[in-house]
Amino acid sequence: MADFLEFYPLRRHNTFGFDVRARFAVHVRSEADLLAALADPRAQGLPLVVLGGGSNVVLTRDLDALVLLMEIPGYAVASADAAHLVTAGAGENWHALVSRTIADGLPGLENLALIPGTAGAAPIQNIGAYGVELRERFDSLRAFDRHSGEFVHLTLEQCQFAYRDSLFKREGRDRYIITAVTLRLPLPWQPVLGYAELARELAQDSAAHSTADRIRDAVIAIRSRKLPDPAQVGNAGSFFKNPVVGAEQRDALLVRYPDLVSHAQPDGSYKLAAGWLIDQCGFKGVSDGPVGVYGKQALVLVHHGGGTGQALLALAHRIADAVQARFGVRIEPEPVVL
Ligand code: EPU
Repeated sequence: MADFLEFYPLRRHNTFGFDVRARFAVHVRSEADLLAALADPRAQGLPLVVLGGGSNVVLTRDLDALVLLMEIPGYAVASADAAHLVTAGAGENWHALVSRTIADGLPGLENLALIPGTAGAAPIQNIGAYGVELRERFDSLRAFDRHSGEFVHLTLEQCQFAYRDSLFKREGRDRYIITAVTLRLPLPWQPVLGYAELARELAQDSAAHSTADRIRDAVIAIRSRKLPDPAQVGNAGSFFKNPVVGAEQRDALLVRYPDLVSHAQPDGSYKLAAGWLIDQCGFKGVSDGPVGVYGKQALVLVHHGGGTGQALLALAHRIADAVQARFGVRIEPEPVVL
């Protein structure tokens, strides 16, 4: 029988550090553990919540649910056509995985260094940073399909990745429980240095060539300067997605706001820097009791302790409303709200 923990405190299982409890929680260290938990009579009729590192959720209340704490380990490397394939258990820490692949001579994930969370959570929001998104390094994943009651193999195409989005945030949300992820690291390795801030950081490097470990170190340096360490202050990275607008709207905004930060997308639309929009509305560094906006990056909301997810969401709404009123653009939260 699975070891069900009753009224289990989740404060250490979400990087915001909100102090809520789960009706039941269970440590899932293997696929067998998962099946046992799902079959347990105590799980019947209860909603299911799957938590990896808890680095992309806002917990707003006690969860009358069975919380699966995904801790399945695993690391295996195979060779394929023009790529290394690395399979990681869903519970592997993402950053440790990035470092391990680089140490093993398997470059390709360096731009995604220091992203909090687990390998199994990475596909859910298609993590991305410094010019690389998970989907560009993704092969397939293994998941338990709650509809069929079977384990399934889902390909890149089936996961329907988009900017900070996937099948698992939409139709697949309560359907699949990811147990392992296979990454495809293309050969020959090509460094991705297009992100201006990363290029600047590496330009200070005296070495002639950017190796994967130099890129990883540069990404770590940039992230450490701009993003709060969840071990020090509660946060979930970017709280809002960068909004995408049409060329006409972007041009109109540019006339009124010549400093507007925007990036052209392949389809002719523009991604606006939500951090810039929020910053312009004067929210950077603002505190509302125990919750607030980080002082070095306006896109990040923080929890200093003793606050609630509801207070954080209230602040997020105020910010989104202010951005809407000023720029006519709606910014949407990135984390999953529970
Ligand atoms: N900016 C401001 N004020 C701020 C914050 C940003 O003016 O307070 C401006 C910056 O000067 C810059 C622009 O906004 O010109 C973009 O800022 P930055 O390079 O920091 O990137 P971002 O768009 O804010 C995105 C991702 C991050 C990722 C970085 C690097 C989203 C929602 N966020 O942030 O992802 O690390 O790019 O690729 O796409 C995350 O998803 O949790 C995350 C941290």
